[in-house]
Parts: sequence; C-alpha cells; structure tokens
Amino acid sequence: MDKLVIRGGRRLSGTVTASGSKNSSLPIIASTLLSGAGTFTLHHIPDLKDIKTFTQLLNHLGAETSLANNTLRVSTGKVQSMLAPYELVKKMRASIYVLGPLLARFGHARVSLPGGCAFGPRPIDLHLMAMEKLGAKITIETGFIDATAPEGRLRGAHITFPISSVGATGNALMAAALAEGTTTISNAAAEPEIETLCNFLAAMGATIRGIGTTELEIEGSASLSPVEFNNVFDRIEAGTLLAAAAITGGEVTVKGVEPEQLKSVLKKFQHAGCSIETTLDSVTLKSGKSLIPTDITAKPYPAFPTDMQAQWIALMTQAEGTSHITDKIYHERFNHIPELNRLGANIEIRKNQAVVHGPKLLSGTKVMSTDLRASASLVLAGLVAEGTTEVLRVYHLDRGYEKIEVKLRTLGADISREQYKEFG
Ligand code: EPZ
Repeated sequence: MDKLVIRGGRRLSGTVTASGSKNSSLPIIASTLLSGAGTFTLHHIPDLKDIKTFTQLLNHLGAETSLANNTLRVSTGKVQSMLAPYELVKKMRASIYVLGPLLARFGHARVSLPGGCAFGPRPIDLHLMAMEKLGAKITIETGFIDATAPEGRLRGAHITFPISSVGATGNALMAAALAEGTTTISNAAAEPEIETLCNFLAAMGATIRGIGTTELEIEGSASLSPVEFNNVFDRIEAGTLLAAAAITGGEVTVKGVEPEQLKSVLKKFQHAGCSIETTLDSVTLKSGKSLIPTDITAKPYPAFPTDMQAQWIALMTQAEGTSHITDKIYHERFNHIPELNRLGANIEIRKNQAVVHGPKLLSGTKVMSTDLRASASLVLAGLVAEGTTEVLRVYHLDRGYEKIEVKLRTLGADISREQYKEFG
C-alpha cells in the first residue's frame, strides 16, 4: 500500500498545470454509451483510479477503451450487456452514471445500488425519479436497480429536482438526449462539470438550451454521433494546489483552470488575505503576511464547493483566529477533522459546522486518509506541519488527484511516495 511522506515547512512557489477534470470526465465517458456508431476521442482525461474503474465498467458492458497520454478512446458499438455489477459500482458510486445512457440507448439497465460512502448515505432517489419521469419502469430487488423503457424508448418530460444534484442532473441529461420529444429540467445542477457534459452532448448532436443555467431544455434525438472532445481542467485540483500555496505562505500559478469556475473559492482566498491574479486560463495566488480567519458555507454552484471544504479547514488551522466551515450538502463530511486534530489542530464539530481555532502549530505524525478530499486536507496540513507527516492509504487520494506528489514537488515541497504494510 502507498503512503505520502511529507517534511513540512517549505514555502511553495512556481507554476503547475492542472489535470483534466475527474468529475466532468465521468459523465462524458458514460455518454459514449449513447452512440455505438464509431470511436470517441476524449482529450485531457486524467489517469486516475476512478477513471480506471469506470473504463473497467464500460469494458464489462462490452465497450472498447484505451487510455494513453490522457487521451481516452472509446467505442461502444459492441456493448451487449446492460448489467453494472456490484463489485464495480461499490468501488465507485459514479458508476450510477451508466443508468441513463443504457436505458436511453438499449431500453434496459440493471445497475447495482451504490450504497453509501465514507461521509454518509449517498441516496439515488433523484436519479430514479428522473428516469421514471422519462417513462422508465423501475424495480429494486436483491440490491439492484432494474429499469426498462416499456415502449423501448424514453419519452421527453418535465423534471423538477427538489434539491440540486450533479449526478441526477447528469443522468437525466444523458437519458433525455435520446428520448422522444422535449425534456425540461428545472433546478438542474449548474456545476461546470454539468455545463461541460451539456457541451459534450451538443457536440454529439444533441440540442440543449440553457446550458450553464439551472433551467435546461433538451430536444431528444433519434441518434447521436461519436466525437473528438477536449475535457475541461479540474477546478477542485486547482483549488487544492492554490490552498497548498496559501498554507505554506508561498506564491503559485495554476494553469489550465478557468478562473470563473473557481470564483467563489478565489474570493474566499482574497478574504483570507491572499492576492489573486487571473488570466483566461490560469490563477496566481500570492500569500499575504498572515491568514485571516474566513468562514465558508459549502452549497451548490456557484457557491463554495463542498469538494473544497476539507482543504479549507486545513488552511484555516493556520488563520489568526476562529473560522466556521459549514457544509450544507454533506452534513457529515468531516472525517478529516479527527486526523487534523492529531496533527495538533484545534477543531470542533457542531452538527454540520466545523469551528476551527487558529493559528495552531501542527506537528507531523502518521495520519489516515478516509476519503478523497479528506486525504487532500491531510496533505495540505503535512506541508505546513513541523517534522514529518505520513499520510496513509493514499489510494483514496489517487482516486481524484493525478500524481499530486509530483506536482507538489515541482513547487518545492519535500514529499515522496513510499510503500508500506499495514498490520493485520
Ligand atoms: C458529485 O457527486 C461529485 N461527484 C461529488 O464529488 C460532489 O461532492 C457532489 O457532486 C456535490 O457537488 C462526481 O461528480 C463524480 P449530488 P453526486 O447528487 O452527484 C443529495 C469528489 O470529491 N442527493 O450533487 O453524488 C446528496 O445526498 C466527489 O470528487 C439526494 O438526496 O452529488 C447530497 O446531499 C465527492 N438524492 C446532495 O444531493 C439523489 O438522488 C448533492 O449530491 C442524489 C443526491
């Protein structure tokens, strides 16, 4: 098993380029199931565990995939299975993204229920509601979702989501793209990853109005075509790298990212005393003399993203005072806090709010990753902790960050990846 060994205290500086976005790659790769008419060529696809898991699932369905130099080639002409097995869905909840496209193209899908994850239950009721609105008949038995389109093809519908859901919006979009007639989606997720998915479906020939907003309208097509497409860069990885600059008192430029996609995070860095300069496709963060305690509330886009909440908590351990971090999306996404407190932080959890008392000198020790963004927050803390921090079980980190230790070393961090054995 791998761990990251970090000797803290280095100020980070320099320029690094973000990898392709994980959370836009996944629905884009799922959308290749909508057309078996040839080969898709997808650029800026990050080489991550979650991508590997997803392409494994597509291969299991009968698709052909190959990933080289961040270009993924996919053809789904030979897909003949509609079954997404438990073993793969359990590894990655986003496997549920095959539900919409399989149902839309083949009129049937059988997908294992994804279950929960490290930070609480992850329901899929909104995904199922959207499919039923589009005419699917859904039964749940022996841990599987069994969905069929009675007339063989889904029908356009009006879908209103009671809460904003990235995944359910993605599934509804993919299913509606091949449905008969027009579908409107109200209270759609407007995250950049959904905007990118809409752009991808439009490139395949879908007609979508309202792209980038929470009100979408999709004209169903009889068929869609394979395309070559450039994925966007990962705004959460970029935000994490900027946080690495801020927590070490450094100055870092992250290239590739569109500043607009990180607007709420950049504003909070400025409130915290950092200076931010942007171009069309880069952000430069210059640390201030000290970090000002800055409250955040994680909500749907364009508010501060929940995927940056753990990283922000790590940063605020160094702020000159107390800050309040509230997560309105995942009320229990705080597994990183006990581990940060083992490094010497002083953080309390009050329901869905973390109260961070800074500044606290952190001292390196062994800490355990529990989920993707929790592990990122432990790496950030290790960069500023005195002595050596060992972040264990970095397979969590590898799900969403491509060679993060290489990027951080480029910026001057003393960080290396080492193998280790766990007891028992
Ligand atoms: C996506 O997950 C992201 N994953 C998550 O990133 C991200 O944290 C989340 O969106 C919120 O932005 C991918 O894109 C692969 P949701 P998703 O449906 O789609 C509730 C990471 O770190 N809900 O927007 O699963 C749900 O419980 C990952 O990269 C329902 O109630 O999230 C949550 O409270 C972690 N019923 C809220 O909606 C449903 O059917 C938002 O969830 C679906 C969701």
